[in-house]
Amino acid sequence: MKTDSPFLELQDNAPRVRVWFDGQPLDLPAGANLAAALLAAGVRVFRHTPVSGAPRAPFCMMGACFECLVETGGGVRQACMLEVEEGMKISRPHEAEAGDATL
Ligand code: FES
Repeated sequence: MKTDSPFLELQDNAPRVRVWFDGQPLDLPAGANLAAALLAAGVRVFRHTPVSGAPRAPFCMMGACFECLVETGGGVRQACMLEVEEGMKISRPHEAEAGDATL
């Protein structure tokens, strides 16, 4: 799934692999930075704060702010510190408890 995004990929001819974000298929560039690839694919909300439910998305892109937390590989991790890998299953942390899930 490709959606409109204000973010552009530097190499849009990179080989794609299928990943799943909150159950929706996305074809992202293999080996790309996961946070950047999700932003370029149109994902706007990576998580919601546990207290107010405010939406959050990557801010620093260097592992400092923790705004890019996603659940993948059995744990909650910083998307900006991961590379896109075939078959990744990614979800918003604790989203099942919160209920809402929109891109
Ligand atoms: S964007 Fe700040 S830690 Fe990932």
